[in-house]
Amino acid sequence: MRKASIKWMLFTVLLISASLVAMWAVQFKAKYQHDVFRADHGNKQYTGVVDENESSVIKKTLNKGKPKKTTKTNKVNPVDEVNPVDYYCNFPRDNDIFTMQEGVGQKGWKLKQVQILIRHGDRAPLNYAAYNKFRVKPNFCNIHSDYYSEKYKLVSKYRDNILKDLYTDGAVYFTHPLPQAILCSPGQLTVFGALQQLHNGLLLREAYVQKHKLLDAFMLNETIYVRSTHVRRTYQSAVAFLYGFVPDYHFKKIPITFTNSPKFCENHCVCPKAQSIEKLVKEKQYRIYVDRQKKNSAIQNISRIVGIGDHTGQQIDSLVTGYVCKRMPLPCNKDGECVDPSQLEVVMKEQERLNEITRLETPAQNLALLVMQPFLENLFNQMKQVIDNKEGHKKVILYSGHDLTVTPVIQALGLPDYRWPRLGTRLVFELWESTTGTHFIKIILNGVEVTGNTSFCPERSEDCTFEAFANYVSNIGQVFGFESRSAACRS
Ligand SMILES: *[C@@H]1O[C@H](CO)[C@@H](O)[C@H](O)[C@H]1NC(C)=O
Ligand SMILES: *[C@@H]1O[C@H](CO)[C@@H](O)[C@H](O)[C@H]1NC(C)=O
Ligand SMILES: *[C@@H]1O[C@H](CO)[C@@H](O)[C@H](O)[C@H]1NC(C)=O
Ligand SMILES: *[C@@H]1O[C@H](CO)[C@@H](O)[C@H](O)[C@H]1NC(C)=O
Repeated sequence: MRKASIKWMLFTVLLISASLVAMWAVQFKAKYQHDVFRADHGNKQYTGVVDENESSVIKKTLNKGKPKKTTKTNKVNPVDEVNPVDYYCNFPRDNDIFTMQEGVGQKGWKLKQVQILIRHGDRAPLNYAAYNKFRVKPNFCNIHSDYYSEKYKLVSKYRDNILKDLYTDGAVYFTHPLPQAILCSPGQLTVFGALQQLHNGLLLREAYVQKHKLLDAFMLNETIYVRSTHVRRTYQSAVAFLYGFVPDYHFKKIPITFTNSPKFCENHCVCPKAQSIEKLVKEKQYRIYVDRQKKNSAIQNISRIVGIGDHTGQQIDSLVTGYVCKRMPLPCNKDGECVDPSQLEVVMKEQERLNEITRLETPAQNLALLVMQPFLENLFNQMKQVIDNKEGHKKVILYSGHDLTVTPVIQALGLPDYRWPRLGTRLVFELWESTTGTHFIKIILNGVEVTGNTSFCPERSEDCTFEAFANYVSNIGQVFGFESRSAACRS
């Protein structure tokens, strides 16, 4: 008798859960909307919508001459005009218009390889002090039930496809490939973060897969190589990017490999000289903090209202990443004092100022060169493999990292960009071959070509040779008066 009632109970529970799942599924269907976004690419404008068929996601709209100015959609923002908070959040909206200067070479040039470095997408803050104080429930890391993921058809498709792949495959992976926590833990990738990477992937699919045919559908594993840091949000960002980038993507088709360091320095991470320089840089930053941030009334007010530290770094994490990027109203304290968006703009600008002051000085420049040289050399080696037509060379390489990766790379390249790299940043290194067989490189940061702003090709975005890049990378030791980087590290 006991057994029978347990059976009935089980049956009822099953029935209830089955109908719940069915209801949920119906709800999802009903709420599907088109996830439309646009990209300016040369004198063409692309409109991205999710196609019924997985194979083709971006539909092209050809505009002759200049891209039409649109008033109904969010306006085309030259990157610099966007306020620094919005720029940083990179919040995905319907009808977003992206700049996309990837895949644009000179007449007759052939694109040989692309290496793509991304910063993970939007994440939960690392420090929960403000969330705890104002009792925020961080429920934006759940790909299943979050209201944002229902709104975007692209997100639902990606979720369903990855889940299908997971269940037909018994294999064990590093971690779940989708953000799926009921409540985010600190630093976890959010649904917006996944969407940012889906967009990155789609845009670059248009540039590299559709236009330049860099991927070979039958030899995916041979043509694409993926490397991520050992952190859930970078791994999940890589998966979302790949889903957007690779037509008919299947999770198990493309292995993701791991590096142990956010600097991607592999076996060359030890560098005592870098540590001693880092100490100097930190001291300098501390002096700027005392001289500027301690005296800045917006920063001090935020610290008082929210009860968090008066460093720009923590304020950006807690309030920009924690609130604005999630479209949550900024907190107010018991006396009715609220954080104002304009105060956060001040915080962002102060952070940028701090970066600028430190980076224009020798120790910080040198630190980035020493620390990122192995990564730059790796980029160089990967290009060389293609140029020499070595067996096993890759056409597309994805590195999924952090601000701790992107910032020193930007610095080591000599780019005068002092902003904190936005969430979902993409930095692309393209290798081109001209009609005469010379190899050139192009560097594109968040869709904007910056080759002519690097220290090795100043004002030469049209003809920055692979050789110029190669010389720069291999002579980094000489900046320090040594034969090699490793000698400089030991000095
Ligand atoms: C989807 O694919 C089918 C068969 O390949 C094709 O007939 C159909 O037009 C495609 N649908 C769209 C929206 O592209
Ligand atoms: C991809 O290629 C690597 C080596 O080239 C191999 O070890 C791995 O098993 C392959 N993975 C898949 C999924 O085919
Ligand atoms: C900081 O707070 C003080 C006192 O409430 C106020 O007078 C001042 O205008 C605030 N400054 C900024 C920049 O928010
Ligand atoms: C980058 O270089 C171009 C010309 O080569 C110049 O017009 C532009 O101002 C530079 N950008 C920055 C941020 O220095």
